[in-house]
Amino acid sequence: MRTYLFLVIILLLVMPSETTANEFFWGSTGHRTTGHIAQKHLSRKARKAVKRLLKGGNLASASTFADEIKSDDAYRKYSPWHYVNFNFGTKYGDQPLNPAGDIIMAIRKCKAVLQDPNSSDTDKVFYLKLLVHFIGDLHQPLHCGKAEDKGGNDFQVRWFDQGTNLHKVWDSKMIDSYGMSYTELAESIDVLSKKERKAIQEGSVLDWAYESQALADKVYKSAKVGEKLRYDYSYKNLGTVKQQLLKGGIRLAMVLNEIFK
Ligand code: ADE
Ligand code: ZN
Ligand code: ZN
Repeated sequence: MRTYLFLVIILLLVMPSETTANEFFWGSTGHRTTGHIAQKHLSRKARKAVKRLLKGGNLASASTFADEIKSDDAYRKYSPWHYVNFNFGTKYGDQPLNPAGDIIMAIRKCKAVLQDPNSSDTDKVFYLKLLVHFIGDLHQPLHCGKAEDKGGNDFQVRWFDQGTNLHKVWDSKMIDSYGMSYTELAESIDVLSKKERKAIQEGSVLDWAYESQALADKVYKSAKVGEKLRYDYSYKNLGTVKQQLLKGGIRLAMVLNEIFK
C-alpha cells in the first residue's frame, strides 16, 4: 500500500503540468471576458431571450461549454468547428473546405438554428452556447492560422520555464499571466466611445476571420520555434489580445441583438 502511495506521489510530481486541472480549462478567462462584454451590450430583447434560454445563466458562464464537451467522445464531430485554416492572403472557399466543418460554417449553423422558429429550445440552448464560444475563438488569431502546424499547436515554444506551444500562449498563457479575473479584464477594456464601438461592428463574420488571419500572419513572425517567451512578449502582444477580446464581445452582442430582434 505504501509503495503504491509512493508511486502515485511520484507520478503526480513528474506529470507534465499541461495535464493539471488548471490547464484543462485553458482559455476560459478569455472566453468569459468576451461573454461578459457581450452580455453588457445586449439589447433588452436579446437579454431576455438569452436569460430564458440559459435559465438565468449568462454569456460568460455559457462561453466555455464548447471546450468542456471536447473531452466527451459523443461530441467529437464539433472539434473542427473551433477553427478554420485557409492559405494566407486567399479567400475562404478558394481551396476546398473541410468537409467536417469549420468555424465559419459553425457560426452560420448556430445562427440558422437560433433564427429558425421551428427549432426546439434544447437545440437553441446548445447552439447558443456554441455561438458564444465560436465568436470568441474566431477572434483568437491562431484559430484562423495555418493548417500545417494546426494553428500553432505544433509550433513549440517555452513560456518562462515551461514547454508549451504558440497556440496556447495566445489562447491562455499571456491572459493567465496577466492575473486579472475575467470581470476585471472586461471592465478594463470595455471603455469605448459609441463611435469606436460602431466601427468595430462593421463587416461580416468572414471579414472578422480575414482580420484574424492577418493578425495570425504577424503572430507567426513574432516568435521562433523553441524560443523562450516571457514578460516582454506579453508587453508587446497583450494589446492585440485585449483588442481581440473586446472586438469579440462587441460583435457577439451585435450578432445576438440581430438574432433576437
Ligand atoms: N486546434 C486544433 N487544430 C487546429 C487547427 N488546425 N487550427 C487552429 N486551431 C486548431
Ligand atoms: Zn474553442
Ligand atoms: Zn485555441
